[in-house]
Amino acid sequence: MHEPTSAAPEEPAPAQGPTLFDWEFATDPYPAYAWLREHSPVHRTRLPSGVEAWLVTRYADARQALADQRLSKNPEHHAEPAHAKGKTGIPGERKAELMTHLLNIDPPDHTRLRRLVSKAFTPRRVAEFAPRVQELTDHLIDAFAGRGEADLIHEFAFPLPIYAICEMLGVPREDQDDFRDWAGMMIRHGGGPRGGVARSVKQMRAYLGELIHRKRDDLGNDLISDLIRASDHGDHLTEAEATAMAFILLFAGFETTVNLIGNGVHSLFMNPGERARLQSSLAAGERDLLETGVEELLRYDGPVELATWRFATRPLVLGGQEIAVGDPVLVVLAAADRDPARFADPDALDLSRSDNQHLGYGHGIHYCLGAPLARLEGQTALATLLTRLPDLELAVPPTDLRWRGGLIMRGLRTLPVRFTPRN
Ligand code: HEM
Repeated sequence: MHEPTSAAPEEPAPAQGPTLFDWEFATDPYPAYAWLREHSPVHRTRLPSGVEAWLVTRYADARQALADQRLSKNPEHHAEPAHAKGKTGIPGERKAELMTHLLNIDPPDHTRLRRLVSKAFTPRRVAEFAPRVQELTDHLIDAFAGRGEADLIHEFAFPLPIYAICEMLGVPREDQDDFRDWAGMMIRHGGGPRGGVARSVKQMRAYLGELIHRKRDDLGNDLISDLIRASDHGDHLTEAEATAMAFILLFAGFETTVNLIGNGVHSLFMNPGERARLQSSLAAGERDLLETGVEELLRYDGPVELATWRFATRPLVLGGQEIAVGDPVLVVLAAADRDPARFADPDALDLSRSDNQHLGYGHGIHYCLGAPLARLEGQTALATLLTRLPDLELAVPPTDLRWRGGLIMRGLRTLPVRFTPRN
């Protein structure tokens, strides 16, 4: 059905297309995405979970799909709803209360919740938080700087976003290590409402519910208190909605940021010229290249490989392909962001790229609510690492690195580094 028509007979026939979702693909999916973009831009495939879905890989189609109101985020619209439940990327989400989070709902419910949460999670609140993110970053680096070696995923990229979002939400310090453990369980075992993961989700949700209940009588200067305070023409979040919201902020802002830092450092290691350029610009006290650079790292090898699920509520044509009602559609952000029809020299990392409207944070009404926080964390983490540990280098051959084979996220399991020890 998707056979290319232009291939000359003597060329190795790519009719079957690349193998998706195996080990090789997890390590480097970009050649497979290039093939799909060219030969089968809206591609029907069977996912490892057994669910059939369309993969959208061209930039123009991806942007259209992300903003298309005929594509619903509500898994009830899947032709096989029972099958789709629990497969939208959030472990243990069968629990009804957690289903009512932003990534799972459509207007008008989405509009109402997003407006309320936007009143609490403002760019100003994020900006006020900048000195604390710097402190957290320095504190984590202090713990391994004297050793001359570290695993940057476990000792740095993983704890930073967890502590950052816990502090923003107003989780007391003494409880933050519980979150680190729960989140560790979720990231180690990925999606799927199984055993330890389901338990961690349950504990996290129960804790947040209790915290919100307590804070209601004792509002403070934190994001949970602001979520409780937020009102829109007399409308407030219910306690259950505030709990789901706190949970989605933790969940959406955690593994994404781990991978922004991990993939970002990895890309800099693989592109020493660009890394040197960034380091000298930081040494000169400049920030421009850091700011465009973090956007480029998101485009080049971003944390979110596929946007979360969408389901057709009406028949539509996408990239010339007919999509039937109930069909699941996955927008492959990683493929769209390397589309040569949109980006000049898309497979090159250019930290000063200026025409860079990448889809790493999505597009349309579900555009990442946490983008200002992610940018703050990404910029602080990379600038501080490269400034404090300027001779940071990979401690293993690049071919020894292992990538997680998740569906939605792309990230490294470990990132062993070495450097001259410093105090
Ligand atoms: C939505 C990416 C960090 C909170 C999204 C979406 C993407 C994304 C692609 C849209 C998904 C879709 O349309 O299916 C990222 C990346 C991050 C990041 C690449 C880090 C580099 C964060 C952080 C937070 C956050 C730090 C909060 C603390 C959210 C929320 C949504 C969202 C709440 C849902 C918005 C809605 O449905 O209206 N993010 N995210 N994200 N993100 Fe992020």
